[in-house]
Parts: sequence; C-alpha cells; structure tokens
Amino acid sequence: MHAIVTLTVNGDRRQAGVPTHYTLLETLRYALGLTGTKQGCDKGDCGACTVLLDGEPVLACLTPVWEAEGREVLTVEGLAAAGEPHPLQAAFGDHGAAQCGFCTPGVLMSAHALLLRNPAPTRDEIREALGGNLCRCTGYTKIYEAIEHAAAILAARDDGPADAGLAATFEPAGATQEDRS
Ligand code: FES
Ligand code: FES
Repeated sequence: MHAIVTLTVNGDRRQAGVPTHYTLLETLRYALGLTGTKQGCDKGDCGACTVLLDGEPVLACLTPVWEAEGREVLTVEGLAAAGEPHPLQAAFGDHGAAQCGFCTPGVLMSAHALLLRNPAPTRDEIREALGGNLCRCTGYTKIYEAIEHAAAILAARDDGPADAGLAATFEPAGATQEDRS
C-alpha cells in the first residue's frame, strides 16, 4: 500500500508517493533522491542517518515517514547556504575530520543541532552530543576540534572579533589521538 506524504525538506515543500512502511530515511534517499543522508546499520546503532526534525536530531532509519508529515526536515544537503559551505563543513575539511566520510553527514547534523541549542559547547558536551554517531576512521579528536573551531567561527560572526574568538578555542589539528572511552 502506498500513501502520499508531504514534508518540508531543506525549506522546500516536497510530496512523494511511498510505501506506507517507509522510514524517513528511505523516503529521503529513494523517493526524494537526497542521498547525502547515509544508510548505515539501518537499526539505530550508528547515527549515519541523523537528520533534524523540527530542529531536533532524529535517526531517520527509525522514524516512520508519517511522523515527519507536515514537519520541517533538515538534511546535510540543506546545511550549506548561498553556495558557501556551512562553517561546520569548512572546519571538517580544514581539520581532516572526515576520512572515508560515511559517518560525516550524520555527525554534521548532530553537531549542527548541538550548536543551535548550545553555541559554545565544552569538549564533554560535544562528546555527549555525538554519543550516537559512530566513526570508524578518525578517532574523534579531529571531529571535536572541528566542531570547536566552527563554534568559534559562528560566535565571531555574531558578536565578536574573529581573532579573539578563534584564539580562545582553536587548537592545531592532529596533536593527539583520543579515544571515545
Ligand atoms: S542507519 Fe540509522 S542509526 Fe545506523
Ligand atoms: S570518517 Fe569514516 S566512519 Fe567516520
């Protein structure tokens, strides 16, 4: 059985006819062609499918599409604006925080949700916010550094001298390897 669902995805109202059992992840990837959101474990364990639903991070592989009906979905394709990468995306590039890149869309969306509610998170708060995002490549340190760098960039844009903001939080990439534990 199929049904028509209507979602707002990255600011655009989208409609799709999908099997009624479809998840939000399947709808994004297979009905709307938005393959930036990754299908990893497909059972809630890896975080690769993280998107924002009304500003809150959700695992799209566990979210029935009807739960997103009429709501605002933000995927990694919607992070960049006006042809510019989002500061998180730029910082991930600068810090080498994406290696194979498979986890990266989900990590970016979890980080974006964190910075929306907490513009100046501590390292522990970043670690906690990314607790559901598994990365097999980076050891996480570069990811944490990139998020701290992006937070400083965003804070400097809002209210302060960029150099002061960056100097307070930016550490050179790759100084140490740190495990999640
Ligand atoms: S694909 Fe959704 S948590 Fe792994
Ligand atoms: S960069 Fe490869 S899994 Fe994270």
